[in-house]
Amino acid sequence: MSDSDTKSTCPDIHIGKHFINKLCQDKEYEETLKSYTSVAPVYDEYMASAEHIGAKLTAETLDNLGLDKESKIVDIGAGTGALGMLLRERGYKNIDAIDGSEAMLQVAETRNIYQNYTVAIIVKGKKLAVEDNVYDVAVLCAVFCPGNMGSDAFSEIIRIVKPGGIIIWAMRAPHLFADVSEHFRNGKFEADVEELVKKGKWRHFHMPKTIPYFHGNEGTIFTMQVI
Ligand SMILES: C[S@@+](CC[C@H](N)C(=O)[O-])C[C@H]1O[C@@H](n2cnc3c(N)ncnc32)[C@H](O)[C@@H]1O
Repeated sequence: MSDSDTKSTCPDIHIGKHFINKLCQDKEYEETLKSYTSVAPVYDEYMASAEHIGAKLTAETLDNLGLDKESKIVDIGAGTGALGMLLRERGYKNIDAIDGSEAMLQVAETRNIYQNYTVAIIVKGKKLAVEDNVYDVAVLCAVFCPGNMGSDAFSEIIRIVKPGGIIIWAMRAPHLFADVSEHFRNGKFEADVEELVKKGKWRHFHMPKTIPYFHGNEGTIFTMQVI
C-alpha cells in the first residue's frame, strides 16, 4: 500500500473499498503487516468510509447470546479496537486483545479498551503464549481473509477457548475471495470449518448467517461452540 493510500483524512467510499481490498490479497501475513503499520492512524476512517459494519454485527451476535458480562473474552485481530469498543459499550469489560500489528494495537491502547494487549502473529505451527482453555469467548472481525488469517488458525483459537466456550467471527463471505485465493476457493474455508466439526473440536452454535458487511459485499457470521 502506498503512502498516497493513507494520506487522505476524509476518504470516500471508493477509496475505503479499495483500501480493504488491498489488505486482503493473497500473500503472507508478514507482508500485509507492513500495510497495517502504515495505515493504522487512518484505519478507522477508511473502514467507516467503506460502511463496514462487521464489528457492530459481531458485537450484536455476542450480546444476543445473553452471556455473563464478566465473561473472559479475547478479541483476536483486535486492530484499533473497533469491536472491543462496542463490547465495552455493551458492558463487557473483561476483554484481552491479540494482534500481529503493534501499530494497530497502539491505537487501541489509546482508547483503554482491553485489559491485556498482546502482539502475536497467529500462523500454522506457532503456539500463542496463552494457556489452554483460558477464554469463555473469542471474537474476530474482518480477520479471516487472504493475506491475514486463514483456517489453519482454527486449532490455535480453539485451544485457548474453554470447552463450551463460544467463537464468533464475521468475515466477508468466503466465496467472495475465491478469485484471489486458493484458500477460499471451491468452499475450502467452509470445508475446513466442517472438518473440525467432524473431528469433534467444535460445533455450530448457530449456523453461518449471511449479513450485509460493507458496501456492496455480503458477509458471513459464524458462531461456533468449542467441545
Ligand atoms: C482488517 S483488520 C480488523 C481489525 C478489527 N478486528 C476491526 O474489526 O476493525 C485485521 C486485523 O487482524 C490482524 N491480523 C490479521 N491476520 C493476523 C494473524 N495471522 N495474526 C495476528 N493478527 C492478524 C491485523 O494485524 C489487523 O489488525
